[in-house]
Amino acid sequence: MSKTFNRTTVTAALIYANGPIHIGHLAGCYIPADTYVRYLRAKGHDVAFVSGTDEHGVPITIKAKKEGVSPQEVVDKYYTIIKKSFEDFGIGFDIYSRTSKPEHHKLSQEIFTTLYDKGNFIEESSEQYFDEVANQFLADRYITGTCPVCGNENAYGDQCERCGTALSPMELKNPKSTLSGSNPVKKTTTNWSLPLDKMQPALEEYVGSHQNDWKSNVYGQCQSWLKAGLLPRAMTRDLDWGIKVPLKNAEGKVLYVWFDAPIGYITFTKELKGQDWEKYWKADDTKIVHFIGKDNIVFHCLIFPAMLMAEGSYQLADNVPAFEFMNLEGDKISTSRNWAVWLHEYLVEFPDKQDVLRYALSANGPENKDSDFTWADFQARNNNELVAIFGNFVNRAVVLTEKNYDSKVPPRGELTDFDKLMLEQLAEMPKKIGESLENFRFREALSSFIDVCRIGNKYLAETEPWKIKDNPERKASILNIGLQIAANLSILAEPFLPFTAQKLRDMLGFQTKDWAKAGNFDLLADGQNIQNLGLLFEKIEDATMQAQVQKLLDTKKMNELENKKVSPLKEEIQYEDFAKMDIRVGTITAAEKMPKSKKLLKLNINDGLENRTVLSGIAEHFEPEAIIGKQVCFLANLAPRKMMGMDSQGMILMAENQDGSLAFLEPSKAVWNGAMVN
Ligand code: 2FM
Ligand code: ZN
Repeated sequence: MSKTFNRTTVTAALIYANGPIHIGHLAGCYIPADTYVRYLRAKGHDVAFVSGTDEHGVPITIKAKKEGVSPQEVVDKYYTIIKKSFEDFGIGFDIYSRTSKPEHHKLSQEIFTTLYDKGNFIEESSEQYFDEVANQFLADRYITGTCPVCGNENAYGDQCERCGTALSPMELKNPKSTLSGSNPVKKTTTNWSLPLDKMQPALEEYVGSHQNDWKSNVYGQCQSWLKAGLLPRAMTRDLDWGIKVPLKNAEGKVLYVWFDAPIGYITFTKELKGQDWEKYWKADDTKIVHFIGKDNIVFHCLIFPAMLMAEGSYQLADNVPAFEFMNLEGDKISTSRNWAVWLHEYLVEFPDKQDVLRYALSANGPENKDSDFTWADFQARNNNELVAIFGNFVNRAVVLTEKNYDSKVPPRGELTDFDKLMLEQLAEMPKKIGESLENFRFREALSSFIDVCRIGNKYLAETEPWKIKDNPERKASILNIGLQIAANLSILAEPFLPFTAQKLRDMLGFQTKDWAKAGNFDLLADGQNIQNLGLLFEKIEDATMQAQVQKLLDTKKMNELENKKVSPLKEEIQYEDFAKMDIRVGTITAAEKMPKSKKLLKLNINDGLENRTVLSGIAEHFEPEAIIGKQVCFLANLAPRKMMGMDSQGMILMAENQDGSLAFLEPSKAVWNGAMVN
């Protein structure tokens, strides 16, 4: 028998406060979470939707070092930016808080102390990597190296982002400090670990009990961890940024960020609910659901539950819907390569189009496998689905009512068999959509929602009320039905498209979000006023999309240039070696293409003594006529070299730019031909 829950605690991953957010974050966690919560609220459930920023850990300190500011400044700045982006996109958290708050430090320390007092930790002295240049132990992302599982050369000390394996720094091959780039040495330190190996049977039972209700990617990843055998995991770190370890002999140590971060869900619930908080975490009739990205599975399905089991008074998560990653135009989204669609930029470029992005990201969400965001898909979703199906249906119903019935809902007469069949079909849809949402199948739910719009459109297309001249009752009836369907859509759209749902409610003068009312076709009273507030969606033109694609192409180009590495220095030489080179200034007096050669130009150089011939591989870069008269530097004592049957007497000096283009080395003012360069 399935359990009855009286409330739901929904958490969405606490994102590191070290950068703004992009579409990948929305698609892979926050939109599904928000859609789920909006649905539960519409069903009248008691929900606490909790999230915030993760403000500890190495990712924060690395960013602070990069920006040359303190970690506190980093988290203050990005907390505000991130919170605003979520608000702008209608992610309706009940609370969006921060792990730097004193209450969170307190609760994390209390839970650590409880575990310590119960003897749940093992105190381990072990060798850890230490950076002698930076004078610091190297935890987590302070160290990179080769992943022992997949060979990724840029794996972090806590996780390989390519294969998802959680690692400890000691497992990395060829470790390097990200602080100084030096090879770290090993040094002994003491930390407190959770003996996950000893807790494995309990964790196996917990995970095993969710074989049927967890997503297969989540269940599968947990099972492969369990199969490999869990190891003790340190819950403290030698760092100076984070929550102090509440023990006497722990100077200079902080809690592992993955110890404190999930506790944040609890702290924020306390902050939200005050006295009433405990039942959201400790009552048996509370359903706890963690929305996360796939890289967080191990922490939420094994480590956090292990902590809570050890503590003893909390409920464990009932479900952990984890999402795969969203790529952008075929490439992994990357902050460092600026390969992303940033939410704050999107809103500037597409003002008031939050729902279009929400729709495109849900319809193409990375539910069971990685997905790819493309601007072409975004445009097609908008133009072919939102505009042509949903928007078109509502617009027809509203405009016809405006024109024919002075914007008042016309009365409904007897239903025809055709009407009845269509309405019966529609009446099934709220349940269908709800079931998809309850099972975290958001794409399926959205596709059913669009089917409802399709049915409405088809109804108007087939009944053609605009053509009816001699049967006013029938015409009124059809439009009444059309408007009742629109009212249904305002309820059904709320989880997915909250801004549009609100606009539609305003148009129809119908303010309920109650899901139980969907499937009912007497929502609007006869004679009720409606108002045309304009189109729900507008067509997006090709030129707008081309501009976005061009922006990405420009980014790609920039990245390619930046990736072109400056060549390493050649072997050291002595002054005498340099002095052997006779570099002079001369003027190009003639230039022509070498027959049968794409690359070579034949140049005559006046070097003050004579006109010498130099063959230079610059034909693809310069037109011969454009360089005649130019003063250039050339190596005058290079032994003659034969090229294409002709002697070249010297070499023109050129600088090669990052993009491969060439530039002459010219004196900054005119000098006499033959001037020595030294
Ligand atoms: O991966 C991340 O961005 C982590 N900051 C997620 C933490 S989720 C939770 F445990 F707080
Ligand atoms: Zn790997």
